[in-house]
Amino acid sequence: MNLKQAKELVRGRLSDKRYEHTINVKKMAVKLAKRYGADKEKAALAAILHDSAKEISKDEMREIMRQYPQYAEGGESRPTPVWHGICASILARTQWGVEDEAILSAIACHTAGKPGMSKLDKIVYLADMTSAERDWPGVNKLRKLELKDLDAAMLAALRQTNDFVLSQGKPLDPVSKAAYDDIKARVNARG
Ligand SMILES: [Fe+2]
Ligand SMILES: [Fe+2]
Repeated sequence: MNLKQAKELVRGRLSDKRYEHTINVKKMAVKLAKRYGADKEKAALAAILHDSAKEISKDEMREIMRQYPQYAEGGESRPTPVWHGICASILARTQWGVEDEAILSAIACHTAGKPGMSKLDKIVYLADMTSAERDWPGVNKLRKLELKDLDAAMLAALRQTNDFVLSQGKPLDPVSKAAYDDIKARVNARG
């Protein structure tokens, strides 16, 4: 699936608002890919597809994860907000002909992160948090940091997200906690 096909596909699956978000995530992902010497095409395709399963029902998501347990990454036992990335990755792999593991990974982990994230994983995660229409407190700070230091930005982003989940009294995905611990150790180790 090329970028044009992916855009047409998600245009049909998403509301206007979420489609606009998707296009903004793509722009930010390409900007970060250029900045860090990552593959721009892969960043663009992962960004376009990242929320492609966000507007289907929980039942449908559960069905997709049950059908492909080998790709569900513990899916059902994890908090529901992370399901849509996992499902988008499964659909991209099994229905839409996306074979590139780096792209599939970046789609799957865009909400929770994971330990040992690749450069592309980090780019899509951060692009999703800092796309042009985002206006949460602190977003400008993260926009500056992500252009300076990808890992420091990832650490700040995961801290922010995980703290927010906990402050809402919601369950924190253990994978997200592990992602935070992992990036923290990496940032600390480089001094
Ligand atoms: Fe998402
Ligand atoms: Fe998103």
